[in-house]
Amino acid sequence: MRPEIRLTARPSLSRLLTFTLYPLVGFFALLTLLFLYDIERGLTNISPYEARRASRQHFRPSSSSSSSNFVVDDNNAAPDLTVYKGNPWITDLTASRTVLYQTAFASCEVHDVWTEDHSAIQKDWLWAEEIDHVNVIVVDEAGDFYFFKQKKYGLESTSFATVGGFIDVEKGETGFEACRREVVEEMGMTSPAHLHSLTSSTPYDASSDPNWIPLGRYRTASNRGGGFLTAYLLKSAVKIPDQYLKEAGYEGLGTGAGVVGGEKGNADGEEQKVVKMNLTRTRTILLAGGFQEVKWTASLALALLHL
Ligand SMILES: *[C@@H]1O[C@H](CO)[C@@H](O)[C@H](O)[C@H]1NC(C)=O
Repeated sequence: MRPEIRLTARPSLSRLLTFTLYPLVGFFALLTLLFLYDIERGLTNISPYEARRASRQHFRPSSSSSSSNFVVDDNNAAPDLTVYKGNPWITDLTASRTVLYQTAFASCEVHDVWTEDHSAIQKDWLWAEEIDHVNVIVVDEAGDFYFFKQKKYGLESTSFATVGGFIDVEKGETGFEACRREVVEEMGMTSPAHLHSLTSSTPYDASSDPNWIPLGRYRTASNRGGGFLTAYLLKSAVKIPDQYLKEAGYEGLGTGAGVVGGEKGNADGEEQKVVKMNLTRTRTILLAGGFQEVKWTASLALALLHL
């Protein structure tokens, strides 16, 4: 008898495994992998925003059990996408985070968010994050307040406004540092202790400056984002003479800085006019809704509780 015929007629167990079972197992393993991959894609991509998501960076948890360990799936990232400078908002309830569009200062995202008991996921939670920012209420020794009168894109008419601006997150600036910088840049003013250090070239310890009163740090919109606001009250504010402004490196900032009634254009291309008013008039305007942004209104109302 020929050996080949014996092989075909009585296959050994090992040959059976090699030629039938192993390929079958491999085939099903491949199917399972494809199936899981598809489920995973389905879980992370089911949304009416799918088309827009496709060309954006997509962040998802590296495993379903851990929501703190995120990986970046940037296969589809647009090549010249401006990168948002702030920290992404990710909590133990964040199931996934997809950036729809971002600029250096704002990030428009869709999150999938777990319910408190982790029993279900709410999809398509629009999240509009913004760089953390500051407001400062400036009052001088006589008790007069310094505000802006200005137009803003999101307001229906000209409004009274406080000093404010973004925290320089790239430089690791704190909210307090941003407050001090903004008052110098936008108003040309500072505290007496800081002015003394500028004019006498002596060190300045902001943490022991009694005229800077912290008003707190607050989320702008608890369900939507909008960054965190840090607010301060500066009492006994004094104008910085131009020569010291230059020495302190603030040359060429807002042309009307510190000039009451002066016009200046800010970085947003919006006209700002500095106005000075007493406590009575400030209270009247505040109560009449003359500070048309909720953050200006809240910061000023908080400051009045300290005066
Ligand atoms: C406050 O200013 C207003 C005008 O802006 C003036 O009519 C009023 O007398 C002032 N009040 C005090 C207490 O100085």
